[in-house]
Amino acid sequence: MRRRFNSHIRCTVCLCVFSLLAITLVAFGAAGAMYDKIDQAALDARSGKLEQAQAALKSLLADKSTAVMAGYELGLIHYEDGELDKAMPLFKTALSTAFPGSVSGRDEQALTALLNQEEDASRIRYELGLLCQSKGKQAEATKLFRDGLSIISSQGATYVGVKKCKSCHFKQWSSWRKTKMATTFEVLKPGVRAEEKTKLKFDPNKDYTKDPECLGCHTSGYGIPGGYVVAAEGDAEAQKQAADNEGVTCEGCHGPGSKSIVIQEDIKENKRPYTFAELRAVGFQHADVRSCTPCHNPSDPGKEPGYHFIYEDNRTEDQHENIELKYRKE
Ligand code: HEC
Ligand code: HEC
Ligand code: HEC
Ligand code: HEC
Repeated sequence: MRRRFNSHIRCTVCLCVFSLLAITLVAFGAAGAMYDKIDQAALDARSGKLEQAQAALKSLLADKSTAVMAGYELGLIHYEDGELDKAMPLFKTALSTAFPGSVSGRDEQALTALLNQEEDASRIRYELGLLCQSKGKQAEATKLFRDGLSIISSQGATYVGVKKCKSCHFKQWSSWRKTKMATTFEVLKPGVRAEEKTKLKFDPNKDYTKDPECLGCHTSGYGIPGGYVVAAEGDAEAQKQAADNEGVTCEGCHGPGSKSIVIQEDIKENKRPYTFAELRAVGFQHADVRSCTPCHNPSDPGKEPGYHFIYEDNRTEDQHENIELKYRKE
């Protein structure tokens, strides 16, 4: 009698474990498929199928598991068109879904001091954004919201700097450093590109290397932990962090790498096959048009309103030579 009872329990436990596993697998698969849908819509939005993409993203807003990222992508479409007033509420709703309940109540000074910390990085930007918004600083608030969501989107990964990537990808690095992407920071120095600056109504003798209006697009990870910072004189650590993120670095296009390099180290050490989905799951980006449009958009002072970046025309020599991957499967 006792034995039968026990085996019954065992069976129930087994069944429970199995069904949990099955549910998890289905949920995982479903989440993966949802992300594929978001990615596809985000690509469509930038390749002429705007209405279709927006409809697809709006339908994903209703599902809890995709509401945050769908809201982010919808907001980004407007943000990258310079329509901050439309981006703002979408970003804000997405963040309030990610961080339901009341906010901590910390003041602006306390939050600003925490900006370069990894822990809670997206929530801190959300809270600081809310404070900025309440003080009428709309543009600043929208940027903070966007950064908070981009941190969620890259699974909290931070910037590690170009030297780390170089240590394993020397070939890509040596061709990248000859491209214009490697020197976008130089352009901001006084006297550089004087003629072009004059044409753009910039002061050719002014030093723009500390101007927050320029750094977002002429450096990598500005405003995100580990990314570019304006270093105070004598702060050696910040100076190193700045130097590692000058220009459009690897992470400027592939996304922050702190989490993916752990996997890449393992691939290298064990010479093992991998799929891109492994890297995607920790926020790594397969470089495509979405890697470019955060900078190549009408907010670039050199562009007219309504400007649209055409990937196919620009995906040429200005990234780096492409080298066949050895371990990547599918
Ligand atoms: C929204 C992103 C963005 C911002 C903000 C931005 N830039 Fe740029 N900038 C770009 C891009 C993209 C290019 C390359 C444009 C191209 O060739 O299509 C560029 C090119 C330039 C050039 C070279 C122009 C040429 O014709 O050679 C200069 C100079 C420049 N930027 C200065 C600045 C300064 C100064 C600021 C701040 C006041 C600034 N940029 C802010 C994105 C930006
Ligand atoms: C301006 C954007 C940009 C920058 C900056 C950039 N990449 Fe890429 N990278 C791309 C694109 C685009 C691809 C090709 C994606 C595809 O398959 O269509 C790519 C592909 C790759 C690949 C896959 C193999 C290959 O060579 O195609 C590796 C590895 C890579 N990049 C590493 C790096 C490293 C390391 C750096 C920095 C030294 C870097 N990338 C900087 C855009 C960029
Ligand atoms: C972090 C911002 C940023 C990102 C991301 C970025 N770019 Fe750029 N890009 C710039 C800036 C700034 C310049 C201007 C450099 C200069 O004039 O020296 C530029 C210049 C270029 C140029 C040269 C234009 C010219 O007139 O000579 C090409 C081509 C280009 N980018 C393509 C791309 C592509 C393709 C991607 C995405 C795979 C990309 N960029 C991603 C900021 C960016
Ligand atoms: C410890 C070594 C190591 C470091 C550090 C490293 N990678 Fe990699 N990475 C690899 C290996 C190994 C692969 C797989 C290469 C292959 O299949 O040939 C890879 C693959 C990639 C790919 C291709 C992804 C794909 O499947 O499309 C990109 C892009 C890339 N790395 C970019 C970067 C960037 C950006 C950095 C810096 C943030 C970086 N890597 C740092 C070892 C490294």
